[in-house]
Amino acid sequence: MEKIIVDGGKPLFGTIEVSGMKNAAVAVIFATVLSNDICVLDNLPEISDVADCFAILESIGARITHVSADTVEIDTRSIRDAEAPVKLVQKMRASYYLAGAMLGRFGKAKVGLPGGCNLGERPVDLHVKAFETLGASVTLSDEYIEATVNPERGLCGKNIYFDCCSVGATINAILAAVLAKGSTILENPAREPHVVDVANFLNACGADVRGAGTSIIKINGVERLHGCEYSIIPDMIEAGTFMVAAAATKGKLYIDNVIPKHLETITAKLIEMGVSVEEYDEAVCVSYEGEMTPIHVKTLPYPGFPTDMHPQMSVLLCLANGESAMSETIWSNRFRYVDELRRMGAKITVADKTATFEGNTVFKPAVVKSCDLRAGAAMVVAALATKGITTIEDIAYIERGYVNIVEKIRSVGGNIQKVNFPDEAS
Ligand code: EPZ
Repeated sequence: MEKIIVDGGKPLFGTIEVSGMKNAAVAVIFATVLSNDICVLDNLPEISDVADCFAILESIGARITHVSADTVEIDTRSIRDAEAPVKLVQKMRASYYLAGAMLGRFGKAKVGLPGGCNLGERPVDLHVKAFETLGASVTLSDEYIEATVNPERGLCGKNIYFDCCSVGATINAILAAVLAKGSTILENPAREPHVVDVANFLNACGADVRGAGTSIIKINGVERLHGCEYSIIPDMIEAGTFMVAAAATKGKLYIDNVIPKHLETITAKLIEMGVSVEEYDEAVCVSYEGEMTPIHVKTLPYPGFPTDMHPQMSVLLCLANGESAMSETIWSNRFRYVDELRRMGAKITVADKTATFEGNTVFKPAVVKSCDLRAGAAMVVAALATKGITTIEDIAYIERGYVNIVEKIRSVGGNIQKVNFPDEAS
């Protein structure tokens, strides 16, 4: 079993380069199915989720050529309307984008229901609603989502109202609608930057998607798409994780290859705590400026504070000089990191989806688990802020979403390493 070992308590100083965004990459990779051509994707993060997407596409006939570490050529001309192996699709939630892409291209899709982080109830009712509104008949079982449309009629554009802002359902609706007859209007869609990235990719392939990132998206169906070259946006959550690490270790990090606008709420909350954040064209510089003020954070759909930054930000709330609170409005089971921080000495109470942090925590070294991807990232941040040796287990979660996190942190002075314990059961 591999673990991350951190000898913490030292400030991080230097420059860190952010990689391509996981949640944009996994969606754009499946969107290439609609091009029925060759696409070249650049700035792809080298993470296990991206590798799993490639394996799924190859299992149904796509040809993947690795041009460089972060550039890949995807040829989807020979994709068949087949079903990807369940064991592959169940490794991550983003697999459900295959359903929208296959339905959009072939008029039918059968995809094993995904797994992914255990964040609590993760329904797909809005995905089903979107597909059915476009004219597909959808069967949902515990294992599969299956959608088919009458080949004579095909998918027809309609208005789709989302009862809640869902990234996945918004993207799946766009994937199904770009080749449909007529126009589709999405009302109350998710506005995340990765939704915009998928729309920009599809438009580069000849689609007509307008308004992504706003409260109304209009998709005018087109006859066919073609291949393109496209560069994935930088990962705002990776950037936010390093911003918090700079403050938590009382250091100063120049975080390069970011879009500052995507980080606005993270920046605002750090400044509210008294952390210095300077914005440049494609970078931010975050430095610790002394005692941190306690605050209340509430996670919301973009442009609100991202739920994927909740566990990492909570580490900082433990270090503030007074009582802070973190309210979670997206995932019912986002608080699994709390027990691990308690193991490190944090005083935290959780009630009604709000965690309250006593503050002024002096973390103590411990053996902690990564309960999910972002909880694991929070453990790395907490360990870096802790004098002594902290061991982090179940690090495969972390490597699903962070490219070379150990190497990047070592490059700015972090005493961190990945160690293999072969005699321990994985
Ligand atoms: C995406 O998940 C991200 N994953 C998640 O990031 C992120 O936490 C989430 O969006 C919210 O920003 C990927 O992009 C691969 P949702 P997704 O549909 O699409 C409810 C990470 O750490 N909902 O926006 O699955 C749902 O229960 C991961 O990178 C329905 O009710 O999330 C939730 O409360 C973790 N019905 C809310 O919407 C539906 O059909 C937002 O979920 C779909 C969702």
